[in-house]
Amino acid sequence: KKNIIIAIDGYSSCGKSTVAKALANKLHYVYVDSGAMYRAVTLYFLRNNIDVTNEEQVQNALEHIHIDFHKEEGVTHVLLNEEDVSDEIRQMPVSENVSTVSAIKSVRQAMVKQQQKMGARKNVVMDGRDIGTAVFPHAQVKIFMTADPKIRAERRYLELKNKGENITLEEVFENIAHRDYQDTTRKESPLVRAEDAIILDNTDMTEEQQLDFVLDKVGKAK
Ligand code: C5P
Repeated sequence: KKNIIIAIDGYSSCGKSTVAKALANKLHYVYVDSGAMYRAVTLYFLRNNIDVTNEEQVQNALEHIHIDFHKEEGVTHVLLNEEDVSDEIRQMPVSENVSTVSAIKSVRQAMVKQQQKMGARKNVVMDGRDIGTAVFPHAQVKIFMTADPKIRAERRYLELKNKGENITLEEVFENIAHRDYQDTTRKESPLVRAEDAIILDNTDMTEEQQLDFVLDKVGKAK
């Protein structure tokens, strides 16, 4: 029997990972946060002063980057060359540069290859920007998430504040708007709804309602 892929794409800070994680837990599927991979690459580039316009430097850096997910007590950690970078990749320096790094063709090629491997034999829930369009165009279930930009900024702002980050709502709003702009207008697999993706606008939905919505779609697809 063929393994099942659930692709969840959409704008920044829509709550994709919250739905994806809940879904993976419920169905006992593997959850893959593809954004975390681009964030880890970005962190490596920042730390090593990689010039993103220098393709040779980029290629060379990619050869030295190994990304892994490690699940412990229900929490998934992101490992960059064995180091746990789960917290650091959520901070502003990475958020401010990730859309530039993820627009680079060779970076995308390397990540997509790994993502396809992760979903080759297992049942997987993967969230990102191009999962239903480029990584798994044949995914059995495709969800395209969106929400009011102001609500998205408020949610992310509270999340970062709770983690003790020194940041304003305005900065968070700007970052989200800027990433959406870069992600939808880039040349390499831009963020776009796959024709067969179901829209989920969660502006006025609870997490439970979102999970039920997606579970219903999965049930119908199986
Ligand atoms: O999902 P998250 O917001 O953490 O992703 C961070 C950034 O990584 C996005 O703004 C986008 O630039 C990039 N990304 C991507 N393709 C994916 C997942 C994320 O280009 N599949």
